[in-house]
Amino acid sequence: MEIVNQWRQEKLRYCIMTKNATRILSGIQPTGDLHLGNYLGALRSWVESQHSTESFYCVVDLHSLTVEFDRDNLARRTLDAVCMLLAAGLDPEHCTIFVQSHVDEHTSLEWLLECVATFGELNRMTQFKDKGAGQESVTVGLFTYPVLMAADILLYDADKVPIGDDQRQHLELARRIASRFNARYGETFTVPEALIPPVGARIMDLQHPENKMSKSSDSHLGTIFLLDDPDEVVNKLKRAVTDSENTVHYDSERKPGVSNLLEILSAITAERPDVLALRYDSYSRLKQDVAQAIIDTISPISKRFRELTSNTDYVMDVINNGAVRAREVAAVTLARGREAIGLLRP
Ligand code: TRP
Repeated sequence: MEIVNQWRQEKLRYCIMTKNATRILSGIQPTGDLHLGNYLGALRSWVESQHSTESFYCVVDLHSLTVEFDRDNLARRTLDAVCMLLAAGLDPEHCTIFVQSHVDEHTSLEWLLECVATFGELNRMTQFKDKGAGQESVTVGLFTYPVLMAADILLYDADKVPIGDDQRQHLELARRIASRFNARYGETFTVPEALIPPVGARIMDLQHPENKMSKSSDSHLGTIFLLDDPDEVVNKLKRAVTDSENTVHYDSERKPGVSNLLEILSAITAERPDVLALRYDSYSRLKQDVAQAIIDTISPISKRFRELTSNTDYVMDVINNGAVRAREVAAVTLARGREAIGLLRP
C-alpha cells in the first residue's frame, strides 16, 4: 500500500511540476537505440509537455565525443536520434528540436562557466569517476562534460530540466554554477530545477528486474527497443523473469519481475498496477496482455521512424529550423553572460 501511495503522489507531483514550468530543456545522446524505458519514463512526458510549455530538445552530439565513439556513424546516429524524437511524437510546430554542435553558443558559454566551476567539484562527479575508472587515459572533455551540460541548460533559461536519476548530480552542479555566477557577476542565469520521472514510470529490465531497463544490459532479452518487431516483443515477454508463486499481485519488493510487468501495463493504460493485478490469475495471461500493449505502443513509433529515415530532407529542415530558433535564444543569453563577466563588447 505504501508503495502504491508513493507512486501516486510522485505521479501527481510530476504533472504539477511540468504544468508550472515556463521553459523546459533536455538533452539526449545521439542514438536511435531508444528503449521502452526511455519512452515511458521520459519521451512520452516530453511529448505531453510540448503543448503546455515552451520546450527545447537538444541532441547532444558534442557530449558523445567524450567517450569512445564511431566517427563513421556519428552523423547518422545524430539524425536517427532526431527521427526517434519525431517518431515518438515531438512536433516541431510545438517545440524546438536541434543538434548541439549546430549552435556554437554552447561551447562559448561553456568556457565562461569553466572559469566559475572548480576543479574540486568536477572531480567529485560520480559519472566521471565511473566512466573514467580503469581507463588508461581520460580526456579533458570527459572531465568537463557536466559544464557543457550546464551551458546547454543555462543558455535557454530553462527552469525545468527532465532528466534521469543518473543525471541528478550534474543538474545540481548546473544549479551551483548558475547561482555562483549570479552572486559574483549579478543576476544572469535562471537557476534550473530537475524533473525526475516518477517512480511508477521507472521501467526495469525484464531479465534483471532489480536494474533499470537499459540499452547496455548484458542480456538483450531484458530490454524492449522501440524498433523491436512484434515477434521479438512476444518472445522477450514470454521469457521475462517472474517468480515461482504464480499469483499476480503488485509488490515490487517481493515480486519485482511481476510488478515490473504490471508497471509497464500501468504506464501504458494509466490504470493503477495494484488494480490491474486483480484481473489476472496467471502469469501467462498477464505476459500476453503486456506484450500486446507494448506492441500497440511501439509499432506506430517504429513505422514513423522508418518513414522519417527515408525522408532526410524533411528531418534536416526540422533541425536547421531548430538551430535558428535555438540560436535566437542562446545568443541573447551568451551576450548577457559575456557582459556580466566584463568582457569588452565587439
Ligand atoms: N548528460 C545527459 C545524459 O547523458 C544528456 C544531456 C546533455 C542533458 N546536456 C543536457 C540532459 C542538458 C539534460 C539537459 O543523459
